[in-house]
Amino acid sequence: MHFPRASWLLAACIGNIISATDTGVLEVDLIFPRNSTYAPTNNFPVVFAFQNAQRARYLNPSIQYLMWNLQTDHTSFTLSHDLGWKNWTEDTYLAHEVMSFPSEEGRYKVSWSLTWDSCDEESFENPDRIPRMDHNKTTWATYFSIDNSAPQVDLVAATANETCTNEYGMIINVSDKTLKVPSSVEWSAKAWNNDTCAVMANSTSTSTPEPCRIHIDKAAAESINASVTARVCSGIDPPDYCEKNAATQLAVAGVSCLLAAVGALGFFLA
Ligand SMILES: *[C@@H]1O[C@H](CO)[C@@H](O)[C@H](O)[C@H]1NC(C)=O
Ligand SMILES: *[C@@H]1O[C@H](CO)[C@@H](O)[C@H](O)[C@H]1NC(C)=O
Ligand SMILES: *[C@@H]1O[C@H](CO)[C@@H](O)[C@H](O)[C@H]1NC(C)=O
Ligand SMILES: *[C@@H]1O[C@H](CO)[C@@H](O)[C@H](O)[C@H]1NC(C)=O
Ligand SMILES: *[C@@H]1O[C@H](CO)[C@@H](O)[C@H](O)[C@H]1NC(C)=O
Ligand SMILES: *[C@@H]1O[C@H](CO)[C@@H](O)[C@H](O)[C@H]1NC(C)=O
Ligand SMILES: *[C@@H]1O[C@H](CO)[C@@H](O)[C@H](O)[C@H]1NC(C)=O
Ligand SMILES: *[C@@H]1O[C@H](CO)[C@@H](O)[C@H](O)[C@H]1NC(C)=O
Repeated sequence: MHFPRASWLLAACIGNIISATDTGVLEVDLIFPRNSTYAPTNNFPVVFAFQNAQRARYLNPSIQYLMWNLQTDHTSFTLSHDLGWKNWTEDTYLAHEVMSFPSEEGRYKVSWSLTWDSCDEESFENPDRIPRMDHNKTTWATYFSIDNSAPQVDLVAATANETCTNEYGMIINVSDKTLKVPSSVEWSAKAWNNDTCAVMANSTSTSTPEPCRIHIDKAAAESINASVTARVCSGIDPPDYCEKNAATQLAVAGVSCLLAAVGALGFFLA
């Protein structure tokens, strides 16, 4: 069956809304880079995935990461995805960025932290305590290499394998219970979350993260690149590869739908 590209995108945007369900456990993964060796590039992607992303709705999650060259100590800027504003209607959400940083050969480390907030239920209910939020932060590191003789960065190939070690992800067991955040509590996400927070499940998860369930297909890899390129090129002082013409404007207008498409169709789960 063949559909013109525009209808695919439209279908993707609609499918994105319809596919919202509320099952499963929240998992946050580093999808790329993996422990592997890549050719130097000026468009190095960093991709995180939220699986069962609806579960992140009241958690005010954010991801911060930093990369450095272990030989030279050259360091990237700290990059972050502050996702508290999101509505979390997708089943799977990809947070991605493209950076020019690891352009020289060497061994690199990427250190990433996930932070989230939940209700400190006991402090809300106990009159002897000052109500507060629970702030949780977990940090990981992954290593990779840049080598002139290595294959080009390829998100499709990198995510094709069915299995990988669980070093790239974590599971957060959020209960179905939500509470109203007391008015005395200062919490940056209140405005986004209608003063609502989520309560953690009492048992932490015993299951294993499965980052390799997420396979990025060619269309998604291109749309990730296109959305970031459009963002970079619409900024002040865009890099040389940006075409300074109307096509760039068009690309920017298409980004929100492209991003939605990444949320719905742009990858598939095995
Ligand atoms: C990363 O890959 C290297 C080379 O394939 C391997 O020796 C090492 O054990 C891997 N590290 C982890 C944490 O999987
Ligand atoms: C989130 O949902 C609300 C209500 O449906 C809507 O008004 C708002 O624009 C949405 N925000 C985003 C960032 O999609
Ligand atoms: C953070 O979350 C993890 C996983 O749910 C849990 O094991 C840990 O106890 C939490 N830490 C804090 C300070 O709440
Ligand atoms: C996929 O898995 C095979 C076997 O474990 C391994 O040899 C190969 O390097 C992996 N490919 C990628 C892109 O990680
Ligand atoms: C916000 O929360 C209140 C109760 O705390 C509820 O009555 C109201 O419907 C909620 N609004 C939205 C938009 O979810
Ligand atoms: C966790 O256990 C505490 C104490 O037993 C209880 O008050 C709380 O409601 C439980 N939380 C959930 C989400 O079940
Ligand atoms: C999450 O917590 C609930 C309630 O404590 C438990 O029944 C469930 O097995 C946990 N889920 C996972 C994946 O560990
Ligand atoms: C991403 O887009 C840029 C600019 O259009 C291009 O130079 C680069 O080759 C693309 N990268 C990939 C991996 O497709």
